[in-house]
Amino acid sequence: MRAAVAGSAAGLTPFRPRSHAPHVLAQVNSAAVQGIEAFPIEVEVDSNFGQTNIVVVGLPDAAVKESRDRVMTALTNSGFRFPMGRVTVNLAPADVRKEGPSFDLPIALGTLAATEQIEPVALKNYAIVGELALTGAVRTVKGALPIAIRAKQEGLRGILVPRDNAAEAAVVDGLDVIPVQNLREAALFLEGQVQIAPLRVDTTALFNQPPPDDVDMADVKGQESVKRALEVAAAGGHNLLLIGPPGTGKSMLAKRLATILPPLTLEEALETTKIHSIVGQLAPGQALVTQRPFRAPHHTASDAGLLGGNINPTPGEISLAHHGVLFLDELPEFKRSVLETMRQPLEEGRVTISRAAGTMTFPSQFMLVAAMNPTPDGKMPQESKCSPREIQAYLGRISGPLLDRIDIHVEVPQVKFAQMTNAAAGESSADIRARVIAARERQRARFVGRPVTCNARMGSRELKQFVQLDELTLQMLKNAMTELNLSARAYDRILKVSRTIADLAGSDVITHEHVFEAVQYRSLDRNIWG
Ligand SMILES: Nc1ncnc2c1ncn2[C@@H]1O[C@H](COP(=O)(O)OP(=O)(O)O)[C@@H](O)[C@H]1O
Ligand SMILES: [Mg+2]
Repeated sequence: MRAAVAGSAAGLTPFRPRSHAPHVLAQVNSAAVQGIEAFPIEVEVDSNFGQTNIVVVGLPDAAVKESRDRVMTALTNSGFRFPMGRVTVNLAPADVRKEGPSFDLPIALGTLAATEQIEPVALKNYAIVGELALTGAVRTVKGALPIAIRAKQEGLRGILVPRDNAAEAAVVDGLDVIPVQNLREAALFLEGQVQIAPLRVDTTALFNQPPPDDVDMADVKGQESVKRALEVAAAGGHNLLLIGPPGTGKSMLAKRLATILPPLTLEEALETTKIHSIVGQLAPGQALVTQRPFRAPHHTASDAGLLGGNINPTPGEISLAHHGVLFLDELPEFKRSVLETMRQPLEEGRVTISRAAGTMTFPSQFMLVAAMNPTPDGKMPQESKCSPREIQAYLGRISGPLLDRIDIHVEVPQVKFAQMTNAAAGESSADIRARVIAARERQRARFVGRPVTCNARMGSRELKQFVQLDELTLQMLKNAMTELNLSARAYDRILKVSRTIADLAGSDVITHEHVFEAVQYRSLDRNIWG
């Protein structure tokens, strides 16, 4: 068909720009991110006779025009010719959802190849992504890591990526990651006229770096019982609620929970990095998320920002916290509907987002730390000027289903001045973490071959099998529950937390001391709140 249009058989003598021959088709490998995976996209550029015009198909309408304008301006500003004749750009397959900017560089290189301004001999060996500035500079894209993973799976030799994305892509073994700074450099590289060394990162070395010591449990003065509760929470994977007046260090403590959790495994780090890569949250040049994330979204954050969403489903805060800590400060201020939606991620470790654009599932396995004032005026109930009804209404704002997934409640009192001024450093995160790791190791051995990974995740079957109390301890627990007016729902939580406390003590047997400590962690179930 092309021959018929171009050939003289049709009796036409079409305008024929001398600078290039007609009917050149260039194909560039690229990729689009959907969910947390990337899918191959082929950018086809066809240059043909006709009125000078550039047509892009396969992108959403709004993105087309913007991309075309950027690409054409970048071409001329990089010293190339504006393409003459009709240039058709097709992003295939059409039914894969794509966002515009990351295709700028492949479109520009494809156009240069199709108009024979360059001879990119290496083109077929590489996947290419990059946004273009009008100057021709290559700008960062989102999702470079999943795109690199896909390029490797497709059997490509390498990938051309914006320089600031190169480190995250280079985490993928056996793929030549070529950092490019501008369009001209990318073109010269593909022509074989300049060499660019593939970026290599040593993931093992990155991984073995000591954690930064600017955030450490040792910074927290006093608050021994709260620190202990954090240790228990970390050891058993229990969600935690901190209740205390403003300024008592709740935010400070929450932030330090991530520092006493076991270090990320490489597999976990890759999963978390992928999510941060998709959202464009990695720092320029950052290869891996090597420390457990700590995310503290404000209660005014949008539902999409928190849970994930937007027109194209993208991960939200609860997914950015994957394998780390999600801190919800001022819990009663969060919208009830949002808190209720957190039930699925808390239960299943993933969140499903439905939008007109499609349904997407993102991982979101996190430890929840919530904080709240004890009463509307911030005082402990005994000192509060609020009426019992006001206090009840305030507590009632927390969604029940969410509260049901928080095993540990702990009161955070005002630190005494003497403790505050005491210069002696508290125990370091590293020391606490060592005990947490040992307790986790006991759990791993216990639950081997089961879907359960930590005590907090025990179901009724595991509870029956692994949490046995002797008669005396059981009686003590029953008495305590009656005395403290604990609700029935507190019972299973006390058992799970007791198991963790015993694990921290290196004990298979759960003693009355372990149970007694666990009972302390049910403040909100007690009737002192109004
Ligand atoms: N136990 C503590 N040890 C050291 N500093 C503390 C302690 N408690 C509070 N602070 C200091 O007081 C400030 C307020 O603490 P913050 O964690 O924001 O309290 P909250 O979240 O409970 O309102 C922090 O900047 C922190 O430096
Ligand atoms: Mg705070």
